[in-house]
Amino acid sequence: MARETWATRAGFILAAVGSAVGLGNIWRFPFITGQEGGGAFLLVYLLFVALIGLPAILVEFVIGRHTELNPVGAIRALGSGAWNYLGWLFVAIGFVILSYYSVVAGWFLRYTLIGVLDGYAIADTGEAQALFGTVATGIDTLLFHAVFMALVIGIIAAGVRRGIEIGVKVMVPAIVILLVGLAAYGFTLDASTAAYSYYLSPDFGYLAANWTSILPAAAGQAFFTLSLGMGVMITYASYLGEDRNLVADAGVIASLDTLVAVLVGFVVFPFLFAAGLEPGAGGPGGIFVSLTTAFAGIPGGRVLGVVFFGMVGIAALSSAISILEVLVSYLIDELGVSRVPASIALGVAVFLLGVPVTIDLIFLDLFDLLADGILLVLGSLLLALFVGWVVPDIAREELSRGIGDLGPFGDAWIWIVRIPIVVVVAVSLYLGVVDYVE
Ligand code: PHE
Ligand code: NA
Repeated sequence: MARETWATRAGFILAAVGSAVGLGNIWRFPFITGQEGGGAFLLVYLLFVALIGLPAILVEFVIGRHTELNPVGAIRALGSGAWNYLGWLFVAIGFVILSYYSVVAGWFLRYTLIGVLDGYAIADTGEAQALFGTVATGIDTLLFHAVFMALVIGIIAAGVRRGIEIGVKVMVPAIVILLVGLAAYGFTLDASTAAYSYYLSPDFGYLAANWTSILPAAAGQAFFTLSLGMGVMITYASYLGEDRNLVADAGVIASLDTLVAVLVGFVVFPFLFAAGLEPGAGGPGGIFVSLTTAFAGIPGGRVLGVVFFGMVGIAALSSAISILEVLVSYLIDELGVSRVPASIALGVAVFLLGVPVTIDLIFLDLFDLLADGILLVLGSLLLALFVGWVVPDIAREELSRGIGDLGPFGDAWIWIVRIPIVVVVAVSLYLGVVDYVE
């Protein structure tokens, strides 16, 4: 059987954007920004995406398109010896990330249903926090985790590329429009001035004093939000089968992803400030507390809420399938398992790994910090070393396919991957590990 490729020319970029835009932007970005000091974090994060994230997307793209293989097979095909374990690391990271990602996605499904059934009858933020408390853990949480994983398994088992493609075409623009609307509403709140200054003006004193925690947090968030460090972009590029300008595609993906994240900050912080909450205190519940409070206070808020939470659920789905696809493509390519049993077996394993997260949020913290703070950073570091030092010529040549002569840009890219990226990411990793161990 011929290996699958994307159905339409736009399919690849849409699927990659679908993978990138997800809970990382809407749920994780605002609470990490709140914990790491607002504007100071935003600045470091934006620099990280532009200077390290963008070249790192290309690192994954060239490997995938060149080998037309899953991450494990791709690295084995190009490297030898200990490098083989890198592909395995990717698969392991995928398990951990998807297990809690699905639980959080289940929260969004639950909030959608709450809107449909009861509306968001919230008198104050205290009530919003209480509601989040009931959603975050428990037997119902487990149920929604199961429902979400069932959806992920269903899509991946069917291999419905068209499904992903159409979904993303409608959803990403709709999410942006709704976020702009909500941000405009946030602007009308009295607290918005204080919120903007917190979010937009970096406190350099704070940055200098806290860079050892800001840097690893920005690194982890940048890789997570761009779906880097665990082979998703390798896998998606492996289905390309055509010469495209990968640099342009990477630019579109990073820009759209960043736009969505930055917009979310314009929604969440005004509402948290209006409620008199510490921006960092919201934690994983921050987005839910601020939004349910907002939806309770505006005419038509119930409908808006259902649409918004539902859409985030779908955005999470288009990210989650990319993670399961990495695991499944490995079983298909390497072990010859067929798609349906591979999807079910791996999906069920991921579901089981997520069960503790539905019982206690401690596990969410543990998994999230381990996966984002350490594993994705490690995966990206090793892949940069591999591409920069082991297969630089193949990589440079592959990048030029669909572009033509890269001129000095090709060499510049390789040197950025070889030294600055490796150094910055290694420092981030070291600081992240020190932080985790403490
Ligand atoms: N990029 C996704 C998001 O922001 C999460 C993700 C991480 C997806 C790693 C795939 C791989 O929600
Ligand atoms: Na993202």
